[in-house]
Amino acid sequence: MTHDYIEDELSRRTVFKSEQFLSIDYVPENLPHRQAELRALAQNFKTLISSPGRTSQRFIIEGPVGTGKTAAAKRFAEQIVQAAVRRDIRLHNIHINCRVNKTSYLVFLRALREFKPEFPRRGHSPEELLQMLVEVLEEEDRYLLLILDELDYFIKQRGSDILYDLTRLTDDQLNAKQRVSIIGIGRKIPLDEELLDPSTLSTLQRNILRFSKYDRTALYDILKHRVDMAFEKNVVMDETIQVISDIASERGDARYAIELLWRSGKQADRDQTNHVVPDYARQAKADTHPELRKEVFTTLSQMHRILLLALARQLKETRGAYVTMGEVEEMYKSSCEEYNEEPRAHTQIWEWVQDLTSHGIIDTKRSGSGQRGQTTLIGLSDVPAEMLEQFIASLLDSQEL
Ligand SMILES: Nc1ncnc2c1ncn2[C@@H]1O[C@H](COP(=O)(O)OP(=O)(O)OP(=O)(O)O)[C@@H](O)[C@H]1O
Ligand SMILES: [Mg+2]
Repeated sequence: MTHDYIEDELSRRTVFKSEQFLSIDYVPENLPHRQAELRALAQNFKTLISSPGRTSQRFIIEGPVGTGKTAAAKRFAEQIVQAAVRRDIRLHNIHINCRVNKTSYLVFLRALREFKPEFPRRGHSPEELLQMLVEVLEEEDRYLLLILDELDYFIKQRGSDILYDLTRLTDDQLNAKQRVSIIGIGRKIPLDEELLDPSTLSTLQRNILRFSKYDRTALYDILKHRVDMAFEKNVVMDETIQVISDIASERGDARYAIELLWRSGKQADRDQTNHVVPDYARQAKADTHPELRKEVFTTLSQMHRILLLALARQLKETRGAYVTMGEVEEMYKSSCEEYNEEPRAHTQIWEWVQDLTSHGIIDTKRSGSGQRGQTTLIGLSDVPAEMLEQFIASLLDSQEL
């Protein structure tokens, strides 16, 4: 008798009821332990609804990785837009990831296209785009809440001109309606004292909302909600949730906690059991690293990934904390061959190295003037080389499917 693999697969049991509630883009309806922050946002932004056009708001959300900054901003924006709709105020919310839209040009284009979807990609300067955005808002009597997520990354690469441009938008015109409000999000946003005018600077400094790390009990509550939504009843043991809360509380990172939960469930499925036991969580911890964040790595180009792979391999081989730029370039060439890519020149590679440094993925320093002469040394910020190698290799391979 032939074996029916499809039926086999379909009849496999799974501990998940709705796995999508554990995915990285899912934003839950309720955000336990962020009520105070959501209330603070509501208090500050309520004038956008109560007296539209009178003032615009500028706000900054800062806090460590996985503390719910993006999730809270999305929830908040959705609620304020709904409140506006109920009152016939045309308020739009645009959430821009500045890791993806890496220049002011792309950010403004993305915003303008909200109102003019067909707007051509080329042919204008960033200033012109911004001007057109202001005009559209004026003509159509609309308001904009612009959320600039991962703004710290953007500012590290481009400086804070974008904040300057956006905050002085309507200051030029007397009595003009204030149509653009901003929320900037990042781990720590450098505010440039020389560039920003004193009043904007002091507004921003007063309007910083700091998200703190989640402690064990907060993580437990967050996980408990997700368990109820994503898993079948009674499959996840309470101790498993506790173990995960413990592990993730070191960093206070809810994303990492949820990833461990998801991986634990996957392991239960592989073992064809309906008990998600604490050991699965411990195993998941050993298999992953909180710095290996999918949403960061998926924004990297194929070439960045190959370069990273080369770096990880070189580090693994030499077992040192740092390798030289030259060594990495050698390894890069052979990795390119493996993935059928044409290796690029030194200056290009150098640019990628800078890129990866500002993403916080790698770490560079100048060598002392020892026997190797002055050269750049490259290391990894936090992740073990071998783990990075496996992670990148699997990203590269999955893409080839
Ligand atoms: N209070 C909460 N309740 C439920 N889920 C949460 C809460 N806080 C965060 N999460 C979840 O944890 C994950 C990470 O949150 P989020 O992306 O908002 O973090 P972040 O602070 O923006 O991190 P990063 O600095 O890396 O961008 C998301 O899946 C989010 O839905
Ligand atoms: Mg975020």
